[in-house]
Amino acid sequence: MSTAPSPPGPARAPRRASGRLVVLASGGGSTLAALLAAHDDPAFGARVVGVVTDRAGAGALDHARAAGVPTAVVAPADFPDRAAWDEGLAQAVAVFTPDLVVSAGFMRILGAGFLARFGGRTVNSHPALLPAFPGAHAVRDALHHGVRVTGCTLHVVDAGVDTGPVVAQVAVPVLDDDDEATLHERIKVAEREQLVATVGRIVREGMHVDGRRVRLGG
Ligand code: GAR
Repeated sequence: MSTAPSPPGPARAPRRASGRLVVLASGGGSTLAALLAAHDDPAFGARVVGVVTDRAGAGALDHARAAGVPTAVVAPADFPDRAAWDEGLAQAVAVFTPDLVVSAGFMRILGAGFLARFGGRTVNSHPALLPAFPGAHAVRDALHHGVRVTGCTLHVVDAGVDTGPVVAQVAVPVLDDDDEATLHERIKVAEREQLVATVGRIVREGMHVDGRRVRLGG
């Protein structure tokens, strides 16, 4: 896939009282768990209807199973190439007919095939204040750079690596004695809160993307 960011056209996530969420995850799934903890409250306005991972061993699958949410594993090793995997991922997600796809700790780039179907209604949670520190090692990179403030970003996914329009951000201070693990844990606390609050708003109020600008509601 291309890593060049392409400006997304105007897009609107549907305004719906019972939004269907599909969550993509690769790891332990604490951000997924926050959405699962929220989705039984009718005021949240959304339900996680499916969880798709790229790894059979992802802890996120345990959270999904414990909540009675169906799962699918789409592992790159089961596909001949990246484009075929991307198409397989899109098909697995499409089975759940999502209104919004949430990449929450999913450590792979979503390609052209996936974005052709779900572009404009896929958001990603990233553990840094984008556009600073994109990529897979955002917390380590921020620490090595010596920034005093980092944080988390929820953004619309486009064809680039963590380049899409920003929906929400929360700042997290870097403490003198932080290492990657302690800093990431504090970022994840902020991330879970931001994810639940913002995904709820997207589903309840709608999301309008106009170039780089994102507006919720209205
Ligand atoms: C989160 O901090 C998320 O932002 C990050 O992985 C963590 C997942 O935590 N994602 C990325 O770094 C993607 N580039 P979890 O497995 O406990 O939900």
